[in-house]
Amino acid sequence: MAKVITRFVCQSCGRAAAKPLGRCPSCGEWNTFIEEIVDSAPSRRTSPNGAKSTPRPLSQIDGGADEDRLPLSINEFARVLGGGIVPGSLVLIGGDPGIGKSTLLLQTAVELAQIGPVLYVSGEESPSQIKMRADRLATTGLSNYQTTQLFLVTETDVESILQHVEAIKPRVLIIDSIQTVYDPAIDNSAGSVTQLRECADRFRNLAKSSDLAVFLIGHVTKEGIIAGPRLLEHMVDTVLYLEGDRFQSFRLLRAVKNRFGATDEVGVFEMRGRGLMEVPNPSEAFLAERVVNAPGSTIAVTMEGTRPLLVEVQGLTSPTAFGNPRRAGNGVDLNRLLLITAVLTRRLGLKLGEQDVFVNVVGGLRIGEPAADLAVAAAIASSVWERPLRADCVLIGEVGLSGELRAVPHTAARLKEAAALGFKSAVLPKRLRGGDPLPAGITAHEARTLREALDMGMVK
Ligand code: TYD
Ligand code: MG
Repeated sequence: MAKVITRFVCQSCGRAAAKPLGRCPSCGEWNTFIEEIVDSAPSRRTSPNGAKSTPRPLSQIDGGADEDRLPLSINEFARVLGGGIVPGSLVLIGGDPGIGKSTLLLQTAVELAQIGPVLYVSGEESPSQIKMRADRLATTGLSNYQTTQLFLVTETDVESILQHVEAIKPRVLIIDSIQTVYDPAIDNSAGSVTQLRECADRFRNLAKSSDLAVFLIGHVTKEGIIAGPRLLEHMVDTVLYLEGDRFQSFRLLRAVKNRFGATDEVGVFEMRGRGLMEVPNPSEAFLAERVVNAPGSTIAVTMEGTRPLLVEVQGLTSPTAFGNPRRAGNGVDLNRLLLITAVLTRRLGLKLGEQDVFVNVVGGLRIGEPAADLAVAAAIASSVWERPLRADCVLIGEVGLSGELRAVPHTAARLKEAAALGFKSAVLPKRLRGGDPLPAGITAHEARTLREALDMGMVK
């Protein structure tokens, strides 16, 4: 019997090693190495279009026009994709289990089946389960739609999937999920690095050679390492992540890579009883339950891609019970929260040493940018002082270690969104270097320091 040769591969980034390593030297993740059989299958890599390649002058190459995209009436999804689905593209949709990936793609599939045949391959659910789900969806309620063009199959063998594609000739192929698909010619189990790579490569070749748009669904594991998807990121044209708090209804679809559109673009959805609904005005939705004039509540304006979003930031301080004060943030970066509490303590003299500090971003949104620092600081200070902030005022600005307020980009866009939602004033960093004219209808109070800013924002 031939000796089986194995190696160890990092499940997060795909780095190979002769022995299992505790920590991956490439991506820094812990305990991600698992043993795999070395692929001895003959390589079947060929050029995507099967033919010998010939270089051509740029001016003689057609395509590149946006008209070729398949239109999509789910606007939030279309925008994140860069304006519709590009034929021949390979799109990876990652996200936690249960976040709504299958739901989103099923809605999309039902809709696209109006234009041409769509093949939905599931390795996780039976066709009748998928049908039951489709029946529940309001946007796609089967009665409203002619769905003879939507084909469902439960299949995990990549060869059989390719045969189905051959037979049905769909315009769009959906693989739910890439971790369940395997190539029988390779000995490793489905979901292993070798299988993921090989299968994704097959789908890529298929997409490039036939103008078929392929969506791959990929799960993210509990620990936050993306077994698979991260490894596949460089192989696909577009990487989207569906994120959100499972206990909240809002879902964000975020483009982290896009060869056909802007990255950082974000679509906002809400998971309802009848599927994912678009949220055309997310700021309004995020602020819907806000209690005005409550101490500890502030409004931040954060940029999600090119789009400003208003969110409520809540702060609460309470006396520490056992000496070691806690700082906990939901939706904010813990390091930024620690920095802000330190600045509040040292520069503004707040006695946070004996206080637990909690900060929460309402709606399950995660704020990644420092422009929300001022809102976080104000939420905490407002809770300590029991003084509410002005109800019609938004707070924008990064807080520096000296207690200064630092400029942030896109001020005009942020103010415009705030004005559109009826806010009358904004506290923001003093503009020392000019910049875009600020929109009318909202008064800008410019502050040099955090102290000044809080003074301007609090109810007198
Ligand atoms: P699903 O799309 O199966 O998630 P994923 O494919 O990312 O694992 O979504 C599963 C969750 O969504 C499940 O907990 C039920 C909920 N859900 C709704 O709330 N409303 C709906 O209409 C549907 C179809 C699902
Ligand atoms: Mg699913």
